[in-house]
Amino acid sequence: MNTDVIVIGGGAAGLMCALVAGQRGRRVTVLDHANRVGKKILMSGGGRCNFTNLGVTPDNYLSANPHFAKSALARYTPHDFIALVEKHGIAYHEKERGQLFCDISSKLIVRMLLDECAQAGVDIRTRCTIEKVQRTGEGFALRTTHGPMTCTSLVVASGGLSIPSMGASGFGYDLARQFGHTVLPTRAGLVPLTLSGKHLDRYRDLSGVAVPEVEARSERKAFRAGLLFTHRGVSGPAILQVSSYWHPGETVHLDFLPGEDAEAWLAAERHARPDRELKTTLSERLPKRLAQRLCELDFGSRPLRQYPAADLQRIGQRLQDWPIVASGSEGYRTAEVTLGGVDTDGLSSKTMASRSTPGLYFIGEVVDVTGWLGGYNFQWAWASGHAAGLAV
Ligand code: FDA
Repeated sequence: MNTDVIVIGGGAAGLMCALVAGQRGRRVTVLDHANRVGKKILMSGGGRCNFTNLGVTPDNYLSANPHFAKSALARYTPHDFIALVEKHGIAYHEKERGQLFCDISSKLIVRMLLDECAQAGVDIRTRCTIEKVQRTGEGFALRTTHGPMTCTSLVVASGGLSIPSMGASGFGYDLARQFGHTVLPTRAGLVPLTLSGKHLDRYRDLSGVAVPEVEARSERKAFRAGLLFTHRGVSGPAILQVSSYWHPGETVHLDFLPGEDAEAWLAAERHARPDRELKTTLSERLPKRLAQRLCELDFGSRPLRQYPAADLQRIGQRLQDWPIVASGSEGYRTAEVTLGGVDTDGLSSKTMASRSTPGLYFIGEVVDVTGWLGGYNFQWAWASGHAAGLAV
């Protein structure tokens, strides 16, 4: 089979690239080794796909080159994707912080992409293993389980290493290396953190306890969102966000009363209710089991009047700077994204084309651009796919 464009990977980025290139009259074939395309879209956002974020800026992304994502994000914005969603009559809503979700199901997003691909004449092949890729005079020759194929442009959209059970593979990184690209070290991002030994023993039985809003701080970034204790450590949006900035050996600091002055609050409480026990006071603001545990671990619990002012001051400070010593993360098994990947230095930020191999493109998560939690990763997939789709 001979075609203009082969896209390896029928995920968010690959399908977007395919439909844009198809609309431009290119003959496009998408190859995916999974039994169906768009699996991560289907499972995303708890089945409702947080498909973009109204507040997308380049600052919401991690990359060795923080400027790389700017061009593609500026040329395909959340409003462009919303226009597509509205064209297909898909109902959506803003959940919080600019995050847009489908009202009904993420299946509708996959259906939308497949309908657009069908209209643009895109050929989609699943259960297709790519055994070999070689450069030819005019483009690329592929050996696949669907037979030999040639193309002028080859787009690598095979994603990262997160959730291997959903078809994730290191294929894109291997192909990048084959063509002389640098692949920056990869690690799991947007992932629960694990604790071990005495650090885990402190919190293990709090598993299931959720705090609606904390501020989680790593050495590089702070995020205000929910926290969840798990049987292996800590999770919830604040932890997932900070995990992308966390490095092994670093302590995560939690502020249990973000935006408040805990010292002043405790002083006022002592004045107003001096006979109340500290754990009862803390239970007003924190889940009861957590309040009790903090008292057991550090503060003690006596009537407030028995705490000298200096002690209450220290407790207030501690409530806003509680250290959590994580030993690791849950890893790719549960991570939403993979940090690192194909070095952007080797790619054009306008077209996602390889600077060294004409006709070769890398888009989506396989590239060293990783978004925050909240629809940013899909927006990168759409924007980078769109940029390459216009160029192939
Ligand atoms: P993606 O992983 O989507 O697609 C890659 C495709 O390549 C897959 O179809 C795979 O089968 C195929 N492939 C892999 N190796 C291959 C090979 N060797 N040969 C052929 N095909 C191959 N983001 C967001 O913005 N909002 C959200 O709500 C969520 N929610 C979410 C939930 C969960 C559980 C996860 C794991 C992730 C999210 N994300 C998210 C992140 C988001 O899913 C992710 O960033 C994008 O899907 C990346 O799109 P890509 O197209 O680059 O890769």
